[in-house]
Amino acid sequence: MILSSFPPMGIYETLFRFNEVTGRYMGDQDTHPWAQGFPLTDPVPGGPELPATIELTATDLMYPKADGQPELRRAIAEYYNNYYGSQLVPDNVAVFAGGRPALFAILSFLDAERIVSVEETEYTPYWDLLSLLQRPHELIPSNRANRFRPSLDEHPTGDSTFLLKSNPCNPTGVAVNGEDLRTLVEYYGDRSRGALIDEAYEFFTETEPESAIKYVDNIDETNLFIVGAATKGLQVPGMRVGWVIAARDHIRIFRNYSSFGMGGVSRASQLYVTGLLEPKRVAHARRAVGEFYTSQRKRYGAVLADLGIELYSGSGGFYHWCALPNGLTAEAFNERLFRHGAGILPGPLCDMARRGGDGPLGSMMRFSFGPLGPESLEADAEILKRCLG
Ligand SMILES: Cc1ncc(COP(=O)(O)O)c(C=O)c1O
Repeated sequence: MILSSFPPMGIYETLFRFNEVTGRYMGDQDTHPWAQGFPLTDPVPGGPELPATIELTATDLMYPKADGQPELRRAIAEYYNNYYGSQLVPDNVAVFAGGRPALFAILSFLDAERIVSVEETEYTPYWDLLSLLQRPHELIPSNRANRFRPSLDEHPTGDSTFLLKSNPCNPTGVAVNGEDLRTLVEYYGDRSRGALIDEAYEFFTETEPESAIKYVDNIDETNLFIVGAATKGLQVPGMRVGWVIAARDHIRIFRNYSSFGMGGVSRASQLYVTGLLEPKRVAHARRAVGEFYTSQRKRYGAVLADLGIELYSGSGGFYHWCALPNGLTAEAFNERLFRHGAGILPGPLCDMARRGGDGPLGSMMRFSFGPLGPESLEADAEILKRCLG
């Protein structure tokens, strides 16, 4: 083989195994896709419609701009300015084909001396990215002992550290906001340090959504990279639109990269997402998405707790992060669930040290209620009960 081989991201191991056992794809009708991180792509109850069509002209069929279409970059900048009092201009925004390509670009171009700090329990593909890019990294403790809520005192103190963090966190749902977010941003906003704050779940919080940008005075004087995406809150994972907010000098690097490595992002997708950011619509989406998923978090939390599952979940995201009872491992639990067309994400896939089923996250699971409509709770509860009995 002429290519160096690299396995698929951890979540796919679960999806492939599910297919092997059930002959179906998780997410197909009549499956219970609790392993998967996608939101409803129908309107949430009380939420805005998702347009079924877009109109394209001959101009829209031309090559896109390397750093994103001006209308979308402006809409993104205005969105943040409007909600968080920032003063972003379109030159502070680069558009990517989803959140992960944005993460990949930032970590690829990060200077070689930077040591990445990452919480021990984090979003599965961070591990793949750090491994593939051979990025030296240090772990911030995030485990049962601190209830997956590390404080800033537990972060490395070195001057050239670069934080990689999802907020709200996938898988734990722990959201850093208010004064804690201010302190975090001030610490990593110092020019000697830097951070990638991944806000894919910005809308999914019990309280008003918050972005790190709220606490940044002038992003042009920082090494902060705030990543957003239309994938979760705007409910369009299939559009493949994500973005980075950063200093203009950094955005120029992404433009240069796109000019030889990406060729920009589908103009049709950018047009669609620009429409979703129309101020009245986005206000509606923030409110309805936040409310619906908060109610789902509470409903599913009660079901899981009733079954003797210990919850460590925070108040954000669309996951419950929990410990199975009686030492049952997540892998073993999945084998039981697969027989019912269901499956969860085993905790070890969120372990940034990949210590496997015998490691500290062996009996932790991430239960996703992202793709579940309001009507599926009873059937879901029944399957969970049977597989724990
Ligand atoms: C923490 C986090 N960041 C970013 C993403 C971006 O995903 P995508 O590449 O599908 O836009 C996801 C999706 O699962 C996520 O959970």
